[in-house]
Amino acid sequence: MGKDTDSVIIKGFLKEIPIFKSLSDRHLSRLSENFIVCRVNRGETIFHQSDDSTDLYMILDGAVRASLVNEDGEELILAAFNRGDFFGEMSLLDGKPRSATMIAVDAATVGVLKRDAFLQAVKDDPIIAIDLLSAMVQRMRMADGMIESLAFLDVGQRLVRLLMQIARTAGEKDQSGFFRIKRLTHRELAARTGASREAVSKAMKVLVFRGVIKENEGHFLLSPLAEEIL
Ligand code: CMP
Repeated sequence: MGKDTDSVIIKGFLKEIPIFKSLSDRHLSRLSENFIVCRVNRGETIFHQSDDSTDLYMILDGAVRASLVNEDGEELILAAFNRGDFFGEMSLLDGKPRSATMIAVDAATVGVLKRDAFLQAVKDDPIIAIDLLSAMVQRMRMADGMIESLAFLDVGQRLVRLLMQIARTAGEKDQSGFFRIKRLTHRELAARTGASREAVSKAMKVLVFRGVIKENEGHFLLSPLAEEIL
């Protein structure tokens, strides 16, 4: 794709993004010309925690996760981002190293914007800063929820809370009130609940024994009992 075509696609796309919704057509054109479009493969790392860079990223297509990874390769997933979401705003704003590693969950297309171009857009229309703050506050609320789970819930409760969240957004309820959701590996569950894989396997065994979860080929069935555990 040529730069001009990219810029037209990005301009159309930016119009749909809440933080850029109030920019005039002229300012949108200027901003879109400064975006560089990159394609990333599934599983590819976009940047690592501690990297020194200050670009802002927008997801044009696909999905990306923000993770902390320790020396043993254990991962804690902080957040997942989809089409229309942005990331990289923390280093953009304070100039410090990246706070997390960004990995493509699925093949993704991202637009990359230099810090100076973003700051110019904020000068063009300061409401962008308010919308950015509002998105960051929403992320802080999610982070508070994660801290609360880590501090007050055991691994089994954290698993049930996560699976209920997935069930409410992407699950199907059958006639007996069971939610059917896509199966996740114990490794993924560990990364999303801040637990070790061993602790997840142990807690899952207990939940299966108590009839809260059924582990089937390709999916989990979550019993109505799950609501009572939280
Ligand atoms: P930055 O620190 O520049 O690079 C990593 C990005 O991950 C960060 O900006 C945010 O966009 C995102 N990120 C880091 N921590 C969190 C969190 N707790 N919740 C949501 N997003 C986060």
